[in-house]
Formats: sequence, structure tokens, C-alpha cells
Amino acid sequence: MNKKITIAIDGYSSTGKSTIAKQLAKKLGYIYVDSGAMYRAITLFAMQCDFVSQDHLDTQGLVDNLDMAKLHFKFNKALGYAEIFLNDKNVEKQIRTLEVSNLVSKVAAISEVRKKLVAIQKSIGKNKGVVMDGRDIGTVVFKDAELKLFMTASAETRAQRRFDELIEKGEKVSYEAILTNVVERDKMDSTRKDSPLVKANDAIEIDNSHLTKEAQFEMILELVEDRL
Ligand code: CDP
Repeated sequence: MNKKITIAIDGYSSTGKSTIAKQLAKKLGYIYVDSGAMYRAITLFAMQCDFVSQDHLDTQGLVDNLDMAKLHFKFNKALGYAEIFLNDKNVEKQIRTLEVSNLVSKVAAISEVRKKLVAIQKSIGKNKGVVMDGRDIGTVVFKDAELKLFMTASAETRAQRRFDELIEKGEKVSYEAILTNVVERDKMDSTRKDSPLVKANDAIEIDNSHLTKEAQFEMILELVEDRL
């Protein structure tokens, strides 16, 4: 049986959505799409054009120039997942900085930005066989996904995970700055007008504060197998 399904993974910032999504995609031979990377790349574009900074947001300027931000993913065999390119430049590293994290929720609240990115996401997933993570995947992008997960963990656990990740990459950040970002981003993402972060009615909630990556993977794989 070669039935392919769609797996939508939503949840709060730094809940390990991309870790489980990558594990599942690898195991199932599915495409993994990091929708957050797309919002981050558009934010980087807005920063480069000076449409956004800590104290200003030129929504109209960004919307008028959105067509100039060309995104594409390219599979990296060594890494085992697709990396994101902004106007033909690999921006994987640049988009993960705290600077981008501090601005991305402002940009992601703009409806025209969402419209552009949701259209791309839908087209990538039209043939199923996709695992996509984000904030509105189960509620907006793939309302009919066969499996919807909603990931949570305590803010402190999440901030510690993100802190360890960034320190390992050589970024100089403080735990407090990360915690603030995580809490602020959750608030902005959950309260925005367009496509706020909410659990879909048919999503399964998973609190992974005390779950190892391996235990979580086994548990979720069972949910997938039930649907195949
Ligand atoms: O990995 P992390 O939890 O830090 O976040 P991300 O998935 O990289 O997403 C970064 C930001 O993009 C989020 O805080 C949201 O503001 C926005 N986003 C969104 O609005 N909708 C999505 N489907 C994915 C991300």
C-alpha cells in the first residue's frame, strides 16, 4: 500500500516541531517543509530593504515590493533536508539569528505576506506525502490533513533548547533574551488577526517538556501508522 498522507505540525516557538517533522519525513520518504523558514526569509528581505527594524515597520513598502522576494528550497543531501534560498542566495544561517526571530512575528502578521506564502505551501503539498510545520498548517494551509499535531512545552524548556542550539552555532546570546523572544513571539502569533496560532479542533496536542526525542518519535510514528 502506497497511500500518502499530509502531516501538519503546529505549535509554539521552539517546541521541536522541525525535529519531529524531519524525522518523520526521513522515515516516510516524504517532503519536509519548514514554513517558518519562509516567514523568516521574507523578514530578512524586509530587513535588507529597511522595511522593518526594532522600531519601525513599513507594511506598504514591503507589500509593494513583495514580488522582488523570490524563495525556493533546494534539497541538501548531506543534511537530509531542503535549505531555503532568498533571491538565489542560501539564507539558512542568516534567518535563524535572534535578530530575525525578534522581527519575524511582525512580518508574519501581514496578510499579503501570508497570502503569498500560503499559496506556495499549498502548491508544494498538493500531491500529499508532505510534512509541514508552522503555526497555521492544520487550520489554514492543510485543513484536510490526515494527521494534525499541536506541540507545546513550557516556555523555560523551549528557551533552554533554543539557547543551546544557538550557542552551539556560535551565536552570542543570553538565555534571558531568548526567553523573552519565545514568550513575545507566542503572544504575537496567538493574537494576530490573520491566521492566529490556535490548536485545530482535530489536532492531537503533545506536550514534550518531559519527552526524549526518541520517545516522542516512536509515539508519533504510531499515530502516523494508524492513518496509513
Ligand atoms: O522554529 P521556531 O519555533 O522558532 O519558529 P519558526 O517555525 O521558524 O517560525 C518563525 C515565525 O514565523 C513564527 O514565530 C511566526 O511568527 C511565523 N510563522 C507563521 O506565522 N506561520 C507559519 N506557518 C510559520 C511561521
